[in-house]
Amino acid sequence: MSDSPAGSPRLTRRPEWAALEDHRADALPQPDLRKLFETDPGRAERYVVRVGDLRIDYSKHLITDETLALLQELAVATDVFGLRDAMFRGERINTTENRAVLHTALRAPRDAVVEVDGENVVPGVHAVLDKMAAFADRVRSGEWTGHTGKRIRNVVNIGIGGSDLGPAMAYEALRPFTDRSLTFRFVSNVDGSDLHEAVRDLDPAETLFIVASKTFTTIETITNATSARSWLLAGLGGDEKAVARHFVALSTNAEKVSGFGIDVDNMFEFWDWVGGRYSYDSAIGLSLMIAIGPDRFREMLDGFRIVDEHFRNAPAEANAPLIMGLLGIWYGNFHDAQSHAVLPYSHYLSKFTAYLQQLDMESNGKSVDRDGNPVEWQTGPVVWGTPGTNGQHAYYQLIHQGTKLIPADLIGFARPVAELSDELKAQHDLLMANLFAQGQALAFGKTAEEVRAEGVPEEQVPHRTFRGNHPTTTILATELTPSVLGQLVALYEHKVFVQGAVWNIDSFDQWGVELGKVLAKRVEPALTEGADVPGLDPSTAALVAAYRNLREV
Ligand code: F6P
Repeated sequence: MSDSPAGSPRLTRRPEWAALEDHRADALPQPDLRKLFETDPGRAERYVVRVGDLRIDYSKHLITDETLALLQELAVATDVFGLRDAMFRGERINTTENRAVLHTALRAPRDAVVEVDGENVVPGVHAVLDKMAAFADRVRSGEWTGHTGKRIRNVVNIGIGGSDLGPAMAYEALRPFTDRSLTFRFVSNVDGSDLHEAVRDLDPAETLFIVASKTFTTIETITNATSARSWLLAGLGGDEKAVARHFVALSTNAEKVSGFGIDVDNMFEFWDWVGGRYSYDSAIGLSLMIAIGPDRFREMLDGFRIVDEHFRNAPAEANAPLIMGLLGIWYGNFHDAQSHAVLPYSHYLSKFTAYLQQLDMESNGKSVDRDGNPVEWQTGPVVWGTPGTNGQHAYYQLIHQGTKLIPADLIGFARPVAELSDELKAQHDLLMANLFAQGQALAFGKTAEEVRAEGVPEEQVPHRTFRGNHPTTTILATELTPSVLGQLVALYEHKVFVQGAVWNIDSFDQWGVELGKVLAKRVEPALTEGADVPGLDPSTAALVAAYRNLREV
């Protein structure tokens, strides 16, 4: 395999890579967290990084100071900070789509200057935020009415991928801050049941549809939006003029929006330098802004900005996204870990990991490097998880005693944010006790001697022994406010960036998703019309035939 055309050595041929392999083999062949803490109790304080309101404890990792130093050297050699600066400068670092990557400009202050091709994009960002705020206020106050003059009570966001997961996740996360007199629903699946269930109990006269699609060509979204339009018109007597009061669009594609029949005055714009999975702090967040109000939305943007500034300015040894990204590389590339669990101990973060799945897996699920050469190293992990404590009674068994190494992030808060009764508030300590207990058990396990000392019969000892040494990062904040949510999301955005930079992949394209989109369109006529679709493989052709037969029964 030749070196990359840029002249820099391939990742696995770098001396810094070899040094990490040697370190893994010689210094930490069988890392033992009990011993690491015994010999270096100071790591409990030293391996903590603070950013904004987040306290990130990475002491329970299979690392020493030397590991960290070697990982930092890899980051220097692969010029992570150089690429970071190029991103913030607005360079076209998404090379396969020839686009700048500037989600950070979405939260830049009004007086900042961020140029793309010589044009400052910040005034445009704030113009759209102001337009969103004015609209959100009109809906929230009841000034924006539906076609029949009734106040809007229901907001239905129709979108998929980045045009759904972000607003849906953030709406759930910030529920205590939402206007409870409004109902919010999020429709993404082209399965008609999704829209059916979302609107079946709603009054069309009181319902606003937000059609969220960067490209405005995504078949699921356009199909659902078309059906929503029919539902609305059927409910309002068929007057086409109703559409203008009940449909707004969030998109980069004004032509397609107006082709769909939505007035471009009712379109909230964003730009091709915002990736779908990095977009919920753009116009894509309109449903969220209506739910929590413009001020809270801006607080969330402030939170994003805190972490942007930190990522940009903090030194490597105290740079949280850099450290988290490098830890992931340590496990994925030097311990054969295949997945990464994100386990929030907050019911409000129930959709957080699903959101991160797109952020991480669509960004770093790549197998060629930036120059198109196949990679010879592992790239993005499988990201998974659901809120604790539910997961503890489902799949934690495998993390504790299975055969796989699964690094995990445990996320928790010192205070519940909702107005809970005293009795429910008291449950918070129990929730957090679970988080801390899991982190401890995963790290330190339970030795056979400890099990025996409890009087466990010898034949059961192996079954009741926990080997420990399962690494976790614990992220703590006071409470889940809009700012803290912004901080958390930006932390993961930049962590994903760091890993993509080290792996030398383009984290900002998603060609892998395109094939499925094209094929679905090609296969559909075979289902609907029984058409002979050229190029169907024998297995798929048989499945299509079986489907058609079953459907007729
Ligand atoms: O899943 C592929 C994808 O292109 C995502 O990257 C994007 O978030 C999603 O589809 C939706 O795209 P759009 O916002 O253009 O409808």
